[in-house]
Amino acid sequence: MRKPSILIARAIHPEVVAFLQQHFEVQANQDDTVWSPQELVQQLQGKDGVLTTGSQSIDGALLAACPQLKAVANMAVGYNNFDVPALTAAGVHATNAPDVLTETTADFGFALLMATARRVTESEHYLRAGLWKEWRYDLFAGAEVHGSTLGIIGMGRIGQGIAKRGAYGFGMKVVYHNRSRLTAELEAECKAAYVSKQELLQTADHVVLVLPYTPENHHTIGAAELAQMKPTATLINIARGGIVDDAALAQALKDQRIAAAGLDVFEGEPRVHPDLLTVPNVVLTPHIASATTATRRAMAQLAADNLVAVLGGQQPLTPVNT
Ligand code: DGY
Repeated sequence: MRKPSILIARAIHPEVVAFLQQHFEVQANQDDTVWSPQELVQQLQGKDGVLTTGSQSIDGALLAACPQLKAVANMAVGYNNFDVPALTAAGVHATNAPDVLTETTADFGFALLMATARRVTESEHYLRAGLWKEWRYDLFAGAEVHGSTLGIIGMGRIGQGIAKRGAYGFGMKVVYHNRSRLTAELEAECKAAYVSKQELLQTADHVVLVLPYTPENHHTIGAAELAQMKPTATLINIARGGIVDDAALAQALKDQRIAAAGLDVFEGEPRVHPDLLTVPNVVLTPHIASATTATRRAMAQLAADNLVAVLGGQQPLTPVNT
């Protein structure tokens, strides 16, 4: 019997490629070539499945051009690169990679919060530039983290992980806003209180965004929301570009409408709004919140396990369209 044929759209851990080779005819992309949508369609001809990262868009046009495709496995928890209704209409199983990255991503959210509040990168640049001449009482004085108010927008698994770090590790008062309220048990476990978005923006010292990108969440934080925040507040985005209006944020940072921001994701990344590159009070990282060796391997393995399940006639482990 013919082995199913799959494409791995970007480089992944060699041991996961080897695992997939036990089950499938594999075309891997270990050179990590970034294909255009047209090139991706060409590479997908004759393939039954594909392992994607968040940067390959799987839409109706691609599916129409790849009628053999049966399974698309994203090695990311977010799947806004998928047109889920089009996948469902085409009878293609789509999966994501949740859970395995929750704690690692929450760790990074907290790292970015602390680096932003305590001006870690800004002060390092100053030191490296040879500008440090003397200890000074207000040199890179930042915002307090312990005991401050942490506001989390998007209270899924990663948001809950950040809440626990703040509440238990740093004695922070935690407030959150979410599409739906958590159960009383989960709220107690996270020591988090549900508030309106407006109350959160007005009261939080640190606002962390951990919500999925959907058209409704486009520019959840724009000029109007930034204007509601405290002038001493920080904004952290580890969710998706497009949730924040980056142009409005760059202006707010320039005008010191808010104290600082920490951004791991950007509108139209890997392009970064040029104004963000010129303001000092922002910490910028290249979409690495889940990037530890072990976690990225676990994400790839879960995507691989999903392909093995679906193309072997089993139920997907972590479906997004069933
Ligand atoms: C995700 O899993 O959605 C992260 O953004 C990784 O790319």
